[in-house]
Amino acid sequence: MNDPLTRLPGQPHIARRDGVLCVENVALDALARAHGTPLFVYSKQWMLDALAAYQRGFEGRNALICYAMKANSSLGVLRVFAEAGCGFDIVSGGELGRVLAVGADPAKVIFSGVGKTRAEMKQALAAGIGCFNVESEAELEVLNEVALAAGQRARISIRINPNVDPKTHPYISTGLKGNKFGVAHDRTVAAYQHAARLPGLDVVGIDCHIGSQITEASPYLDAMDKILDLVEAIEATGIRLHHIDFGGGLGIDYNGDTPPAADALWKQLLARIDARGFGDRQLMIEPGRSLVGNAGVCVSEVLYTKPGDDKNFCIIDAAMNDLPRPAMYQAFQQIVPLQPRMGTAALYDVVGPICESGDWIGRDRALDVQAGDLVAVLSAGAYCMSMASNYNTRGRAAEVLVNGGQATLIRRRETLDDQLRSEQLAG
Ligand code: LLP
Repeated sequence: MNDPLTRLPGQPHIARRDGVLCVENVALDALARAHGTPLFVYSKQWMLDALAAYQRGFEGRNALICYAMKANSSLGVLRVFAEAGCGFDIVSGGELGRVLAVGADPAKVIFSGVGKTRAEMKQALAAGIGCFNVESEAELEVLNEVALAAGQRARISIRINPNVDPKTHPYISTGLKGNKFGVAHDRTVAAYQHAARLPGLDVVGIDCHIGSQITEASPYLDAMDKILDLVEAIEATGIRLHHIDFGGGLGIDYNGDTPPAADALWKQLLARIDARGFGDRQLMIEPGRSLVGNAGVCVSEVLYTKPGDDKNFCIIDAAMNDLPRPAMYQAFQQIVPLQPRMGTAALYDVVGPICESGDWIGRDRALDVQAGDLVAVLSAGAYCMSMASNYNTRGRAAEVLVNGGQATLIRRRETLDDQLRSEQLAG
């Protein structure tokens, strides 16, 4: 059933049943009673359905979907994607450690990021990862040295910066000239020629990622044209590229956003690849948000309501340390009561307990709520728990994964002891 006040991103797996907000077949109020709040709850089926859209898009192709685990790196979530056959896009030695902790295949891991350390390179080589996405000429040299010292050859792609505007928030645009990512388009062929001469490197592919929360097909089509131009130019120098990695970035519905469906987008992109004669190459992608974003909600309790001269405040027990996207990117996430009241709504700024004005979750929201009510912040599966902090010495929230009627606690609430364990007094 549709919410009477608002449409719910995440449907049909996140929906009201008999008036109670549920994730799959589990009522959120019961989970909040059992585990406390703030509480992240994820739908496994939503994740698998989102993955299936990509899998349909690549049917009959040689393709590898590498989940960009920065979106949500909780072990219980990683296990879902590992079991579904995904590889992983990692950006740190820590993320590699998480991949190994769930028993996933390191050969399906690609390592992105502009600032890989020598120690991380060594660790990744020892684990036998599939490919390094190298982001600069200087990194080529360092990786070559590290690989030679380890007596290995590192498989690499070079991440190109296609200078395409993904039309998203400036903080999450990555494929524009002014961004720190990738090697500039006009230096790419020279970088490939140089890489091919380095004895510690094995050039296997090309990589590109233009940004995040992209809701139109056109930036992708433009970037694909540019990458294919480069594949032609690079191969004209005698270097063979076995795979094309096209990054991630596909957006989700936060507030009526209508990104293209993954299968429809890939139909268009594959038509271009085939038309240029590169349909035989392995395709790789690195989706993060679109695989988990609308699979999750954050359940929070209303602590106080407070009338103000200019606005009313609704103070909830989740804060910017749990849900950093509004504070960081002025992002919009829907906030809905678990059980709607039948009274009249007032306009509230929904805020957390943290001691700064940047700690807001939603502005000017029409809500009919009282202290003690539970609300759900929607579209909270991506870039929430993975970006959570201990600011104000708040323990990080608990997480539950729902599969049908079964709910599993995949992360217990962080305790004060957990936080204090790594510290000690001076002298
Ligand atoms: N590959 C690379 C190299 C990336 O840098 C990213 C995201 C992805 C893949 C996955 O992108 P996705 O499919 O999730 O859009 N914290 C921000 C998003 C930062 C994205 C960083 N890179 C937010 O909350 O909007």
